[in-house]
Amino acid sequence: MDYKVIAIDGPAGAGKSTIAKKLSDIIGYTYIDSGAMYRAVTLKVLRENVSLSNTEMMIAVAEKTVIDFKDNSIFLDGKAVNNEIREESINKSVSIIAAISEIRKLMVNLQRKISKNKNVVMDGRDVGTVIFPEADIKFYITATVDERADRRYKEFIQKGCAVDIQDIKSQIEKRDHIDSTRADSPLKAASDAIMIDTTGKSIEEVLEEVISHIKIKGGGIVVI
Ligand code: CDP
Repeated sequence: MDYKVIAIDGPAGAGKSTIAKKLSDIIGYTYIDSGAMYRAVTLKVLRENVSLSNTEMMIAVAEKTVIDFKDNSIFLDGKAVNNEIREESINKSVSIIAAISEIRKLMVNLQRKISKNKNVVMDGRDVGTVIFPEADIKFYITATVDERADRRYKEFIQKGCAVDIQDIKSQIEKRDHIDSTRADSPLKAASDAIMIDTTGKSIEEVLEEVISHIKIKGGGIVVI
């Protein structure tokens, strides 16, 4: 059987994971959050008190880390860490760790391995450019930085966390800058990606737009 890949890339807080999750539910594909893997490595680096300037130690930590997905949860060395990887400390450090080539190699191998023999929707920064350059459909989802900061702010407030919107905005800008200027696999739209600006659009509207580009045909998909 010919397995399919739908790639969804874009900057922080653009709504990729919400759209990817909903889309995968609707079409019966497996959702894989590639960013969660970098977040899990970051959590381990911080837990082990490794300095973010000690690249060799960070690589050593990543090499002995076991990451797994099961039942919509991400497991770090056998323990579910869904909430821990979303904390502010992780947001602040993850892009530094994700810029390290050796760590990216480990993650990309794992991302390809867990996608094997499955139809997948994967979201991240380099899904359509590096992990799966041959993906069947590629989307690049963006929004203005103000709107992305506002969405993140609301997520934190809903979880009962006290956060400052200006802090969130500057942290998103910093992360975008590191992600898009790094030498290895920078954040950018694949030349064949469908661009969607979600500014001012609801989740339902974006989902509808994404689905309008996809046609499901006998278990397979084709781009319209
Ligand atoms: O959800 P959000 O957009 O805030 O971030 P994420 O998808 O969880 O990704 C967290 C970080 O991991 C990003 O800022 C990137 O530094 C890194 N990442 C990456 O380098 N490559 C990917 N395919 C996915 C994430």
